[in-house]
Amino acid sequence: MASANDDVRERLAVLGEIAAEVAHELRNVLQVITASAYLAKQDPAASAPHLVKIERNARTAHGIVDDLMSLARGEPAKAEPILLVDVLLAARADVGEADFRDEIEPTSLRVRAHAGLLTRLFHVLYENAVAVTAPRPPTLWTRARLVPGALLIEVDDDGPGIDPAMAPQVFDPLVTGRSGGTGLGLALAKRIAGAHGGEIALGSPQEGRTGAICLLTLPTS
Ligand SMILES: Nc1ncnc2c1ncn2[C@@H]1O[C@H](COP(=O)(O)OP(=O)(O)OP(=O)(O)O)[C@@H](O)[C@H]1O
Ligand SMILES: [Mg+2]
Repeated sequence: MASANDDVRERLAVLGEIAAEVAHELRNVLQVITASAYLAKQDPAASAPHLVKIERNARTAHGIVDDLMSLARGEPAKAEPILLVDVLLAARADVGEADFRDEIEPTSLRVRAHAGLLTRLFHVLYENAVAVTAPRPPTLWTRARLVPGALLIEVDDDGPGIDPAMAPQVFDPLVTGRSGGTGLGLALAKRIAGAHGGEIALGSPQEGRTGAICLLTLPTS
């Protein structure tokens, strides 16, 4: 029988994972803030655009902490109808160079989701594709379509593909196949999908194609 201590230990383990995922997501924005502050100091007379960037990224950092810590409470994500294209565009900020191609049907497609969390999920997928395909920029397709009861969103790249030996564990924390990786991105993506009552899985590339496919399923009813 599980004791109260086991329960506390389990909750602390989840909190530890989420704290690490917060750090993972803050890394990018802190880098942008540091670089912009450096540039602003170089030429104070032309610092305005850098200060705007610092302010925007500081706001993003606050949002990341608030949104991800709300996951620690184990509550379902506070969902509202949002335009999918807005989420995808926000997720592309500062992921590096990529050729983004979208097939969203209809283009005005709305999704019931927490905007901040869903943005983090796509940010993780895009940053992985850029990292594993470097130094070449990847082509990244994002396809969305409605099926009865669910919205399916597929992110497909033309990189090296997921190592088949790693595929079954790739959404577990601390599973990484690249130097400098911590293995937290896809674990966060899975947690965010789950908080929306959805799931994320790997798809299989079509015959003769390389690259990875991540398939997000979100319930619509
Ligand atoms: N699009 C992709 N193509 C090929 N392999 C991928 C792709 N996305 C993820 N992977 C593999 O899955 C591993 C786990 O990804 P995950 O985002 O969880 O961690 P990471 O990128 O290694 O580290 P980080 O914590 O910095 O994100 C990667 O190290 C990589 O080997
Ligand atoms: Mg990653």
